Amino acid sequence: MIIAANFKTNLTRQKTAEYMAVLEAFLEKEGVTQEVMVFPPATALDRFDGRTQVGTQNAYPTRNGAFTGELGLEQLEEFGTDTILIGHSERRHVMGESQEEIARKFSFYKEKGFTIVYCIGEPLEVREAGNDALMDYLEAQLEGIDLHYKKLVIAYEPVWAIGTGLTPSLGDIELIHAALKQRVAKPLLYGGSVKVDNAREILALQHVDGILVGSGALAVEDFCRMIRDAETLHKGE
Ligand code: 13P
Repeated sequence: MIIAANFKTNLTRQKTAEYMAVLEAFLEKEGVTQEVMVFPPATALDRFDGRTQVGTQNAYPTRNGAFTGELGLEQLEEFGTDTILIGHSERRHVMGESQEEIARKFSFYKEKGFTIVYCIGEPLEVREAGNDALMDYLEAQLEGIDLHYKKLVIAYEPVWAIGTGLTPSLGDIELIHAALKQRVAKPLLYGGSVKVDNAREILALQHVDGILVGSGALAVEDFCRMIRDAETLHKGE
């Protein structure tokens, strides 16, 4: 399983370093075998000792150049960062990234061999329009994306579940994941209001290969508890 934390615009460079130290000590002590990923803010990227895959929440499809406010490959390489989140709901809906821009970003970082956690998810009005509308919407978010890319991970994050405390029912998560798995044969994470309280039951669902956690992972102790859930489930405990 893949247990991933997206800090978004939270925690500082200092706080991230403290977080990573606690996390790595935990992974070592417990002998965790599951994959762990952390996406800190760009100012906190670094080479951390240990086995966590540290990725960037965003980057521009360029090596370098005149793209004020953006990061390129050159800045990521300095920290050995080779993992990226692409298509996150906040990039799509708050920053207004189009599917075309997202696909361009995907192609660029695929070409560079990055692990790509590619996010998709529908807003509430689409969810309310029924399952066909929902799958059509998700399908449009796959446009221009190489679904056979070796280092592709998909994250299904319903927009209405992100940061709201709401989640689809377990049955709905299972249903949508089953449909997505038929379409894309890649690891499939669920994201949107995953917390210590619901992580285990979500991780236990069929077709859920992991979780992408925002606010629920900001306290390292909570993130560690979710990792332990994944580890024990994996061992069949
Ligand atoms: P929350 O866990 O805060 O709902 O955020 C989910 C998310 O967007 C992770 O990428």
